[in-house]
Amino acid sequence: MKISLWVNGVRRDLEVPPLKRLLDVLREDLGLVGAKEGCGEGECGACAVILDGRLVNSCLLPAYRAHGRVVRTIEGLGTPESPDPVQSAFVVEGAVQCGYCIPGLVMASRALLDEEASPTRPRIREALAGNLCRCTGYERIIRAVERAGQTPARVCGTEPSPDPASEPEASPGDEVVVHVPGSLREACEMLGRGGVTVIGGATDLGVLLHEEIVAPRAVLDLSRVAELHGVRREEGALVIGAATTYADLLRDPDVARDLPCLHAAVRTVGAPAIQSLGTLGGNLVNGSPGADAVPPLLALGARIRLMSGAGGREVAADAFFTGYRATVRRPDELVAAIIVPLPAAGTRQSFRKAGTRRAQAIAKVNLAACARVQDGALRDVRLAAGSVGPTVLLLRRAMAALEGGRVADLERLAGAVAAAARDEVVPIDDVRSTADYRRAVTGNLVARFVLSLGEAPFL
Ligand SMILES: Cc1cc2nc3c(=O)[nH]c(=O)nc-3n(C[C@H](O)[C@H](O)[C@H](O)COP(=O)(O)OP(=O)(O)OC[C@H]3O[C@@H](n4cnc5c(N)ncnc54)[C@H](O)[C@@H]3O)c2cc1C
Ligand code: FES
Ligand code: FES
Repeated sequence: MKISLWVNGVRRDLEVPPLKRLLDVLREDLGLVGAKEGCGEGECGACAVILDGRLVNSCLLPAYRAHGRVVRTIEGLGTPESPDPVQSAFVVEGAVQCGYCIPGLVMASRALLDEEASPTRPRIREALAGNLCRCTGYERIIRAVERAGQTPARVCGTEPSPDPASEPEASPGDEVVVHVPGSLREACEMLGRGGVTVIGGATDLGVLLHEEIVAPRAVLDLSRVAELHGVRREEGALVIGAATTYADLLRDPDVARDLPCLHAAVRTVGAPAIQSLGTLGGNLVNGSPGADAVPPLLALGARIRLMSGAGGREVAADAFFTGYRATVRRPDELVAAIIVPLPAAGTRQSFRKAGTRRAQAIAKVNLAACARVQDGALRDVRLAAGSVGPTVLLLRRAMAALEGGRVADLERLAGAVAAAARDEVVPIDDVRSTADYRRAVTGNLVARFVLSLGEAPFL
């Protein structure tokens, strides 16, 4: 496949296998070996580069996705004679030991500082959460980012603009056919012909492709389908395009204001480089019972809009999953949008996730909860939990135990509702946790939500 991209300000025209990873293109085809391979599956950040201004893990990105885009690597940031302020600050603060992780950490720091000149410590921690360092220790690294924030970045000429509309050109030897449709109608038509694998952000698929667990002959990429991107208001609801990335959701003021439990859940997905690429539609279709963005959709009473060449239909989010990683979606259907009704005024929303660590951790248990207080009683109670069954579960018995309860009786209710929740979940023992722990934590998270209803709003 012929692709053209701007790397560190220079246009590069290349012929590469379409699904070759950007990391390998940079290292093998362009000789830019700053980006490293650590884990190869999006976990460590050693391969991080900046794509159109956003941090991404180049080990997850198929090369064709870089076509028409602007890539910055560590080599384009500074030179030993004229380093970027981030690079200088890492040296001054002694934030480098073996150096393996440093290109990725420097790129993550640069991406943060380009967006926010003087980030707080918690913001720095959040921005670097997807970059692992085994030998330096994070305190020095954080100090380096704080220091770098005091110096404006060097301006290295005018950055080219990305050209997202241009299409990569197929080559006769391509083993994989890549479709990058520009409209929803075209995308549905192509899917209807069969034999194609849909690609959203490739944060789940990228791992499977690399490990050769999937080997598609043709892919259908949704990144250029404008109808599938963004958030808009429509008749008392927010309609979220299925290919909207987490990074875009986090920057959406309506989502932050009206759907704080979804906003909070999205903040916990992976780390910034995963959020730049991963999509809400991908989280749904991937069907993991531990998916973090899904419990809020069930708790908020969202509907999933499916589209095919034959037309569209909508299903309730709590009827979308039929079993472990199984959904009602037919092979010829795309998830086109997620319709989230605007919660009634005064609805309290919460999202909590228990994992091994804050970033890059699949939930041991997660819980999204919504309820409203009216005349001293609880109304519209919805509780949804993940990683406690084959699918994300709506906790119907716990919801019934709480609905209509009095705010004056929260302590008793918390115990009863937690017991109902513990009883109805069906967790398993696996590498991440035990069924007993998951059952106990579900009860605790539910009780915590119930008790919080007597306090000032916390989200
Ligand atoms: C390091 C790392 C950390 C992660 N951390 C988390 C986490 O904390 N929480 C969490 O929930 N997930 C996490 N994930 C998983 C992943 O990021 C999410 O599930 C993400 O939402 C997947 O979206 P995507 O667009 O990248 O999906 P893709 O990988 O592109 O696709 C996933 C599946 O959905 C299908 N698909 C995608 N979009 C559509 C559509 N619109 N219509 C029909 N089919 C579609 C694809 O064919 C594929 O089967 C992590 C992944 C990695 C690599
Ligand atoms: S190599 Fe670890 S995130 Fe890419
Ligand atoms: S400096 Fe060695 S891994 Fe970070």
